Amino acid sequence: MRILITAGGTREYIDPVRFISNASSGRMGYALARAALRAGHKVTLITAPTTQRHPSGAKIIEVETAAQMFEALKKFFDKCDCLIMAAAVADYTPARSAKTKIKKNNKSLILRLKPTTDILKWAGKHKRKNQIVVGFALEDKNLRQNAEIKLKEKNLDMIIANTAAAIGAGKSTVQIKTPDCKWLKLHQVSKTRIAQKIIALVQTV
Ligand code: CTP
Repeated sequence: MRILITAGGTREYIDPVRFISNASSGRMGYALARAALRAGHKVTLITAPTTQRHPSGAKIIEVETAAQMFEALKKFFDKCDCLIMAAAVADYTPARSAKTKIKKNNKSLILRLKPTTDILKWAGKHKRKNQIVVGFALEDKNLRQNAEIKLKEKNLDMIIANTAAAIGAGKSTVQIKTPDCKWLKLHQVSKTRIAQKIIALVQTV
């Protein structure tokens, strides 16, 4: 298969030197890219900045912002058989980004944010027959219920739900659901093994 994977946390610039981001390490997305390559698939990895080593054999597209990730995804989505959206895409971006570095003064500074495009939802809406779209869900509570809502609303073929404890961790607990199967729980497993399991499941969808 041709598998398109996104990874890392996007950066949303306030001015040329400052940005809003999140604590994503990119580990899960990169583990998925390596597992897919090892299973013999062709991999395109759209990555926001991370400290991960680029997996050799993958086509790497480097982006920073949610908007850039969306542009890159639209370019490669048509050509893939499966999209796995492991990136931590910012839900909001500054309504305006200053052209030059913002100077400090003694007053409080109010930042106005505007929503970004939900890339995964766009992919679920535009997927062709036989194209597989896989998403993640990060939930603090009602994990299964909330993830099932995302599975349906984003028209996904699989969702991997986890909690904030997974961010940056080597091992994590995830729960996986496809529309027609029961929940599958992997308890405190390395991201390498989680990635192998996801790729194995994608092959059977
Ligand atoms: N996602 C995306 N584009 C966004 C935000 C999220 O493609 N602008 C994708 C993520 O890559 C992930 C999935 O949507 O695969 C779920 O992300 P999550 O943060 O759990 O949920 P949200 O849909 O952003 O909803 P909320 O933050 O309200 O829970």
